[in-house]
Amino acid sequence: MPQQDDFPNRAIVGWSESDMLPLESTWQGILITGSPQGGKSSCSGKQIAHGLLKVPETGGLVLTAKAEETQNWIRYAKECGREKDLVVFNAESGHCFDFLHYEWTRPGRGAGDLESIIDFFSTLVSLGRKDAGQSHDPFWERGNEQLMRNVIKLLDLAGERISISNIDRVIKSLPTRPDEYEEEAWQKNSYCAQLIASIRARQDTLTPDQWSDLDFATQYIFRKWPAFDERPRSSLEMTWSGMADKFLFNPFNRLFCSGKCSFTPEMTTHEGKIVICDFPMLEYGHETGRTINVALKLTFQRAWLRRKLADSPNPVFLWQDEMQYFVTRRDNFFQQTCRGSRVAVVCLTQNILNLAEELGEAQPGSKTKSFLGNLGIKIFHQQNDTETCNYAADQIGRTYRYLDNFNAGSSGDNHSHASVGGSRQLAHIVEPIEFTRLLKPDSRNPYAQAIVYQSGKAFNATKTAQNPAGNNYLSVLFSRNEE
Ligand SMILES: Nc1ncnc2c1ncn2[C@@H]1O[C@H](COP(=O)(O)OP(=O)(O)OP(=O)(O)O)[C@@H](O)[C@H]1O
Ligand SMILES: [Mg+2]
Repeated sequence: MPQQDDFPNRAIVGWSESDMLPLESTWQGILITGSPQGGKSSCSGKQIAHGLLKVPETGGLVLTAKAEETQNWIRYAKECGREKDLVVFNAESGHCFDFLHYEWTRPGRGAGDLESIIDFFSTLVSLGRKDAGQSHDPFWERGNEQLMRNVIKLLDLAGERISISNIDRVIKSLPTRPDEYEEEAWQKNSYCAQLIASIRARQDTLTPDQWSDLDFATQYIFRKWPAFDERPRSSLEMTWSGMADKFLFNPFNRLFCSGKCSFTPEMTTHEGKIVICDFPMLEYGHETGRTINVALKLTFQRAWLRRKLADSPNPVFLWQDEMQYFVTRRDNFFQQTCRGSRVAVVCLTQNILNLAEELGEAQPGSKTKSFLGNLGIKIFHQQNDTETCNYAADQIGRTYRYLDNFNAGSSGDNHSHASVGGSRQLAHIVEPIEFTRLLKPDSRNPYAQAIVYQSGKAFNATKTAQNPAGNNYLSVLFSRNEE
């Protein structure tokens, strides 16, 4: 059993001879950003991944956007002696993970909590819906939630398994015309009708709460749902099936709806397992790969927030290269609450515009900035995007400096004058243009330069007799080779 205080001070990477990143600081969240080929994945990313893997108790979840991610992590794990802890989850691995079944039956308080399942699904359904302009429309959000609430309640009362395919069967068999529920054809052929009949058949065993739940569910099914106009009703149906359809067919049905989990999030916190979600978006298609990665991410995030450090103090990480694809509306909440849970969230992305776009903002606005504000460590590689350069410069801050000014003019009486002087102005400590000049690696140069910012830290390497307090930023060279 590891001692609770063994690892927080372990060095993950050295920023300089006199500055290191301790494991406990990684729990503030890490952003690595820079232009394509700037060395995020192969230099700083790799060094941090190695640092985390070298703490033997660390578990984690690795999401994959690019196909090479899995091979990189298998290599990192071998290099750090962690191969035995890998769980590579893909279509051929023999592993399966029914996230819904896990959420419904998992250990701990709140298992089988309907509202938590609904929140899970509405987060999944809201992915990528920003372009539809409906993601924050309360009608759609509430409408979807209501539909799921009634359907899941019905399945639960009937003692059926809560699975994506069962939810789908109920939704597809709901009556669509008022009074259809009274017609014999519907009563005979509809799965929904069969569930209601089976619950009524065991009415003697229902508790008063269950009776009342059944009453509300049937009111929704018999009256409310058929009374919706055709268009909003089919739109709600489409919103559900847009997300769920992927899971109805194999291999995904077998992998995600079998009612079994061959691994669990608890294995990362209790046994130091590292799960690789090997469903890269570039191979499985944008929406499918993304939904699978995010479904695992949401499940693991929830489990990590629930875990008790007294049972298992082990640190974990969430690795998200190309993280713009995996960002959800729950990330801010997670980032704000996970600090005490020993979770290192590592996010790699080219620039902050990518992130803004996924968060539904045309320009980096409050959502993007509040997300970024929750990541305490920022590694800025060479950058071509002006917004990100400005953001990086703003993050480091401004100071009063004497800036040169030069005035020349003519007073009109042939006495032209010129003056040179200085004035005290608030200026960026590191100008935005400096981020465009950082060194990028290439086939011969293995080093990527970055300016590192760590919230609340002054770097020892920048302390001098003239500047005893030091700077809040540091230029660091990250190598892609073992150091
Ligand atoms: N082992 C290697 N040998 C030679 N060159 C390499 C090696 N690994 C990476 N590179 C090169 O180093 C550069 C940085 O690549 P890297 O993948 O780290 O960039 P990145 O910032 O993650 O970019 P992207 O945003 O495209 O993911 C690229 O030009 C890449 O071709
Ligand atoms: Mg990369």
